[in-house]
Amino acid sequence: MTSYKPVSKPRVAIIGGGIIGMSIGWRLAQQGAEVEIFERAKAGQAASRAAAGMLAAGVEAEPGEQSLLPLCLESQARWPGFAQELEALTGIPVGLRTEGTLVVASTRDEVELLRSNYEFQRKLGLDLSWLTGAAAKEREPFLNPRTAAGIFSPKDGQVDNRLASAALRVAMEKTGARLYEGVEVTGLDVQGGRVRGVVLGDRVVPADQVVIAAGAWSKLIPGQASPPPVRPVKGQMMSLTMDPANPLLTHVVWAPKCYLVPRIDGTLIIGATTEEKGFDAQMTAGGVLALLDAAWRALPGVEELPIKEMWTGHRPGCRDDAPILGMAPGLDGLVLATGHHRNGILLAPITADAISSLVLTGRTDPHIAPFGADRFNAARAA
Ligand code: FAD
Ligand code: GLY
Repeated sequence: MTSYKPVSKPRVAIIGGGIIGMSIGWRLAQQGAEVEIFERAKAGQAASRAAAGMLAAGVEAEPGEQSLLPLCLESQARWPGFAQELEALTGIPVGLRTEGTLVVASTRDEVELLRSNYEFQRKLGLDLSWLTGAAAKEREPFLNPRTAAGIFSPKDGQVDNRLASAALRVAMEKTGARLYEGVEVTGLDVQGGRVRGVVLGDRVVPADQVVIAAGAWSKLIPGQASPPPVRPVKGQMMSLTMDPANPLLTHVVWAPKCYLVPRIDGTLIIGATTEEKGFDAQMTAGGVLALLDAAWRALPGVEELPIKEMWTGHRPGCRDDAPILGMAPGLDGLVLATGHHRNGILLAPITADAISSLVLTGRTDPHIAPFGADRFNAARAA
């Protein structure tokens, strides 16, 4: 006779209510886990709000980051389904746009660099095509008339990351995950080499598993045996207002020293600086000047557009620019989902699927196997 085993829901605590923590929380709750997410400020308001929302697996593929490409491509392929599921559940449109992305160049130097990137990215098997200046301007007529060449990447699109965060929040509520805002996790409850819960000041909240999804702050959660090597990488951004009925751009455009991201509502995002300034959150005159100058060189019509907003954010950067996904070294019951750096919006669907599966089954999805925290220990030993 088989003995009776009560079916108990695994209790999971998630630290951080950004797009990563919320996506994981949603997926876990859908599969029956009892999920509590602790966010010390407001959910979705840190890097997940600051981002441009580009789903740029192709044009952001850089030399040295080849091992990241399969993860990025897989997550990009999951975005349409992820967006559709979110929209159907919540009624919130998340602004997924699939017109594709252009990369443009004007001077001889810029064209040579573009050509070399194009050849590198084509060798990786990416679906990209080379455009003459005229062909680039046919797709985007308001580009600088001096535009001399371009790359078209049909699969690189964008999502409105702020709407996606708003939708995830509702999706979590609807599936039963509980979000606590204004609640800082001050430590981990560790007993006998295992994490048994999270510490909130003078309170302990028990959990079977704890997920650290605290973005650029992940290294700072006290109580970890081996804190992940994640640092803040500051980005300054701004947005302008276009006429949505007659926008200056419809594709995402990468130009030398900036990218331009047109939203459906007419917002034109211009990004971004990349700065090693810790958690400094100031906009600077130099940052704004650099963004506007680069945007104006690519798309002169920006000079007529009203300024809408300016902001900064902190990418959770890692030494090798890849995320850290898997069991935390040195402590049982602790999972890391952090270090998404420039690609956290792109990587949300695969992170959510793979980390929820790891938490519930203990199995590591092959897609995330190369991204465990142990790769840093291996690098030290070598
Ligand atoms: P966050 O959104 O930063 O969330 C972490 C949360 O943890 C925060 O809300 C914080 O308050 C909370 N927290 C921290 N410590 C604690 C604690 N002790 N207790 C409780 N809560 C805590 N990615 C793309 O894919 N495409 C892009 O186009 C893109 N553009 C970007 C542009 C800029 C300028 C920046 C800054 C980033 C961009 N990114 C982009 C990267 C992307 O924004 C990040 O990788 C992603 O948002 C990381 O999500 P997250 O949930 O890990 O972190
Ligand atoms: N992925 C764009 C950025 O991080 O600025």
